[in-house]
Amino acid sequence: MNSSSNIVWHNATVTRQRRELQNGHRGAIIWFTGLSGAGKSTLAHAVEEALHQRGCHTFVLDGDNVRHGLCGDLGFSAEARVENIRRVGEMAKLFMEAGVIVLTAFISPYRADRDRVRAMVKPGDFIEVFCDSPIEVCETRDVKGLYKKARAGQISEFTGISSPYEAPQSPELVVMTGAAELEVCVQQVIGKMTESGVMDRPPLKP
Ligand code: ADX
Repeated sequence: MNSSSNIVWHNATVTRQRRELQNGHRGAIIWFTGLSGAGKSTLAHAVEEALHQRGCHTFVLDGDNVRHGLCGDLGFSAEARVENIRRVGEMAKLFMEAGVIVLTAFISPYRADRDRVRAMVKPGDFIEVFCDSPIEVCETRDVKGLYKKARAGQISEFTGISSPYEAPQSPELVVMTGAAELEVCVQQVIGKMTESGVMDRPPLKP
């Protein structure tokens, strides 16, 4: 699979550790997974807002956005989703090496793909957050009108309807995004990140 030959890795003198020391927090991958409409992007952006207010360096990678550019050539077959998550995993790792807290919001329906990203980084670098929302809730919300189209047979291989979603078996955190208030979910994620030693800062005073 790897066709890179005659390529030698170049080590940076400005290391991840130096960047982290300068930033005052660790780089990390906060991986949100869940059904379409479960609230992954909303939660990732709300957590980013809270982290930004604490002076942390952050970035959100979001399925709908990344599929406009880097992954614009990929559809929703099983193979395309595997490749989507492979690219996103590599990109998230680069952001983390740059000292950034990267928050990813992709359905990432396959356990093996998420575990592959986890295995690419050191223990503690990857925090998996399962956005647990029943499909009935996602479908009732149907913010983008996609469930309606999927039920009408206008979209094939739609996650939860005609394509599988494999829930995490031992994620670092489960948030009940279908039932709990957004702010409660944000505090859960921030709590887990603090507990994991990614950052430990109160918000900056205005
Ligand atoms: S993933 O399965 O490869 O991780 P990703 O998170 O990038 O998916 O993209 C999911 C988004 O694409 C959904 O939120 C939805 O807006 C849109 N979408 C379009 N077609 C589908 C489909 N067949 N299944 C799921 N999501 C789809």
